Amino acid sequence: MNQPVSGFSKKTKAEKIEWLAENYLQNNSDSIRILKNYWNEDASLQQLHDDFIENTLSNYYLPFGIAPNFLINGDLHALPMVTEESSVVAAASNAAKFWLERGGFKAEVISTEKNGQIHFDFFGSEKDIENFFEEVKPKLRESIQSIEKNMKARGGGLLELSLVDKSHILDGYFYIHASFETLDAMGANFINSCLEQMAHTFEDEAKNYEPFQKKEVYPEVVMSILSNYVPECLVRAEVSCKVEKLTTKHQDGLQFAEKFIRAIEIAKTESRRAVTHNKGIMNGVDALVLATGNDFRAVEAGVHAYAARNSYYGSLTHATIEDGVFTFWIELPLAVGTVGGLTSLHPLTKLAFEILQKPDAKQLMKIMAVAGLAQNFAAIRSLVTVGIQKGHMKMHLMNILNQFNASKEEKNEALEYFKDNAVSHGTVNDFLEMMRS
Ligand code: MEV
Repeated sequence: MNQPVSGFSKKTKAEKIEWLAENYLQNNSDSIRILKNYWNEDASLQQLHDDFIENTLSNYYLPFGIAPNFLINGDLHALPMVTEESSVVAAASNAAKFWLERGGFKAEVISTEKNGQIHFDFFGSEKDIENFFEEVKPKLRESIQSIEKNMKARGGGLLELSLVDKSHILDGYFYIHASFETLDAMGANFINSCLEQMAHTFEDEAKNYEPFQKKEVYPEVVMSILSNYVPECLVRAEVSCKVEKLTTKHQDGLQFAEKFIRAIEIAKTESRRAVTHNKGIMNGVDALVLATGNDFRAVEAGVHAYAARNSYYGSLTHATIEDGVFTFWIELPLAVGTVGGLTSLHPLTKLAFEILQKPDAKQLMKIMAVAGLAQNFAAIRSLVTVGIQKGHMKMHLMNILNQFNASKEEKNEALEYFKDNAVSHGTVNDFLEMMRS
């Protein structure tokens, strides 16, 4: 049985690998070789990656792809996409091309407010806490002057402070809601530093507040943290065209539009479908979030909470036909940054920003929303016409061939053969067995 280890973080990288091999890898030299195979030859680049997190042993590659032909508000963009899922980049590229020929995407940022809370307990009189809050508010603001200085100079900073009483739901529970403008930064560190400082000031000032002293009842801070729920940091992206322009050699425009809208209505009504529908949207959004070094867990949490804002979980996209015009749009809460965090550290992230023509945070929000909309368009289009598997499995073919260790020649033959034949693990296996016999 393995034993707990102490002082692990103090070990060198080699010692950590040695420990892992001894305890969990049966001293398997192959496993150690795999870890080392992914080290970068450039020692300073490797060190950079080692320092991103703790106890780094190796690097974990994900493919960095590109989806061209995105016409967004009249400008052409190529989108860098990082994802492990085959067919995502192809779907994005197809949707981009489809809408390039129909006027492209329009996108606008609706709002950019972030927020955080100082959660505290108070078991005294509501009037006392309300009065105290009004009195202490200017002092809370003052106390973050040095933290806020640079952000304020650029036009951002703390916006509003308000007291929220939740004691009717949880006995004694209140919070201070703080809203922020963090400009091109995602702002997590800035917001958390402001909140923690204000929380200290709040508790210190409370000790000297007479009504509290008299009754010997003081507010006590439980925690201070930003919220990843950002419904006031919203972006909208849209495509539209005359219904007949949707006609292609494979589809009648009106029939397609009506079935497409029906699919959206189903995702608005039934959360079992909505979750998968929105997952498809996030295939596009996350690929850009990852490529630009943003926090995909924060974005995912915020987006799904937004999808459930009306007390049920529904579609993030909408579609209508009005006066013969098909319109398809998305509204997403996206708290993302173009400065800070990994954005200027990871060489591939820097490259992604260069490809995107150095967007500011608002431009990046628009591009991400467009990626989500495009991905959803491609998915629904396949689902209501030929089905998802045909295209998906074609794209997945190379992964299956690699699983079967197919040679270069076998791959070429397979690519030819599966142009007209259904791809599945079974059919690829049969095909390879036939070639190999
Ligand atoms: C697969 O990654 C995403 C889809 O399931 C999305 C959808 O069903 O809308 C194809």
